[in-house]
Amino acid sequence: MLEKSPILKNKSQQSPRHFLDIADLDSATLRKIIDNAHAMKRAGKRVPAKLRPAGVEDAVLVLIFEKPSTRTRVSFDIAMRQLGGGALTLNHTDLQLGRGESVADTARVLSRYADGIMIRANKHATLLDLAQNATIPVINGLTEKSHPCQIMADIQTFEEHLGPIEGRTVAWVGDGNNVAVSWMHAAVRFGFKLRLACPKELYPEKEALDWVKREKGNIELSTDPVAAVKGADCVVTDTWVSMGQSGADARKKMLAPYAVDADLMKKAAKNAIFMHCLPAYRGHEVSEEVLEGPQSVVFDEAENRLHAQKAIIAWCLGA
Ligand code: CP
Ligand code: NVA
Repeated sequence: MLEKSPILKNKSQQSPRHFLDIADLDSATLRKIIDNAHAMKRAGKRVPAKLRPAGVEDAVLVLIFEKPSTRTRVSFDIAMRQLGGGALTLNHTDLQLGRGESVADTARVLSRYADGIMIRANKHATLLDLAQNATIPVINGLTEKSHPCQIMADIQTFEEHLGPIEGRTVAWVGDGNNVAVSWMHAAVRFGFKLRLACPKELYPEKEALDWVKREKGNIELSTDPVAAVKGADCVVTDTWVSMGQSGADARKKMLAPYAVDADLMKKAAKNAIFMHCLPAYRGHEVSEEVLEGPQSVVFDEAENRLHAQKAIIAWCLGA
């Protein structure tokens, strides 16, 4: 009998290697994925056999989008091509899912055809439902609660510019949103200090704060951007109005004192970097001067989505 490839083995396993949240994985596994992401970047477009999961040339990753995307859509598709496999992008309205077929049935059907599913979902519950019912790996491409693939690329970017992230200080300034929550998960798992400054009304969800408390994470939460940024190695922000959020005017009012400008950047460490997952709204959460300035690494972050995701996919498929 032919030996099954890791991908085929995954198909018949009870629990495939899902990448749902940074909080779900142990530090050693996450470290290995980041080290592989660095190796993937060094290797360039043609990923060498030693970094590829066995059988990837026969593998297809299905990409499902319930919300818009530029980076996630393109970088996942190209990541699969560079690994030697294929990808299929679907908007949820193209699927029967959009007209009421259950997530569970969709998961079971896609598991018969494909080798992995990446989903950008309106509701985190959809991601979990998909993962529970799929017999192939499921990857979180952003939900209203978290954005783990982005933060894996951000860790890679931090390390390229400033060396190992362990023990360093990152400041989050703005909305305590899905991206902030994945930073919180990462701070615990990668062992760095995270200072968040958010308006009280927009603090991160209690579920994430409770998780950090249980894990004894090195995280400080306040309403003071200057205190958060003081001496930090990295300053991060994100849009004031995330996809699917209402009350844009009220949010903009609350968040106006949290705009990242050159004055705020001066309070950070001298060689601090500025990060933003993009898309950015210049003149709102970040000034043009900072976004386009020498401390900004936002396009490295965007590029690293590709490399980090090659490493995530390789791990999910058994590498
Ligand atoms: N940063 C990010 O996830 O971008 P997209 O919404 O374009 O995928
Ligand atoms: N917080 C943003 C991130 C976009 C990549 C959103 O959810 O819209």
